[in-house]
Amino acid sequence: MTVKKNLEVCFSPALLHLYDTKGKVVVIIDIFRATSTITAALANGAEKVVPVASVEECIALGASTPNSITAGERNGQVAPGLQYGNSPLEYPEEFISGKILNLTTTNGTRLLHQVEDADTIIIGSFLNLSAVCDFLIAQDKDVLLGCASWKDRPNMEDNLFAGAVVRKVQSYFDIKCDSAMIAGSMYDDALRRPDLLSYLKVGSHYERLANFGLLKDLEYCTQVDIHPVVPILKNNALVLEKVTTI
Ligand code: MLT
Repeated sequence: MTVKKNLEVCFSPALLHLYDTKGKVVVIIDIFRATSTITAALANGAEKVVPVASVEECIALGASTPNSITAGERNGQVAPGLQYGNSPLEYPEEFISGKILNLTTTNGTRLLHQVEDADTIIIGSFLNLSAVCDFLIAQDKDVLLGCASWKDRPNMEDNLFAGAVVRKVQSYFDIKCDSAMIAGSMYDDALRRPDLLSYLKVGSHYERLANFGLLKDLEYCTQVDIHPVVPILKNNALVLEKVTTI
């Protein structure tokens, strides 16, 4: 009899110390907007995305790396000194193809740097939901779905994505994790609404970004499976992994 691997969900970077990440596949989730932007930029042909902790480091890297740009946000708005922001719509193929994107964000890239001993780190978003699920099933390793949240406070959109993954892969994994159960129930609830975005409207980061006039970003980030790719961390940069179809 094949023993199923475990899958757990961590709702906040502040809770990460409670989970063992050693040898696991960790999925970094920041739906609004870091992991959606990373997915879109790589799917549109970026050579790689370099996640950077600080704005200063990002600027220095941009200056020393040919054919690269600096981008990111603090508190949801373009950080002073960076060339571009954290909107997936800023990175269409005609602009980003062949470029290196140095990216620093408030929560998403921060969580990426917090996970130290995982076997594999990949990027999850609704844009690549099925590709992520197929990848997890094919790995046959324990999985942690890590929500970037907002400044350590759990948020609707990251938890909802975790729930979508739970529902899609649950027959392949042994899931004994209350957070996974909560996330799965959220997803069931969301499926009863007209669309995912209407479910997420009560969320704090939805409101923050909508107040900045970024409704188009929110709509973009809740499209499902438009980019069937898996961004994976290799040599401190995110690149595209070959997709395994189940
Ligand atoms: C983050 O990493 O904190 C977010 O992606 C913020 C944002 O929406 O730009």
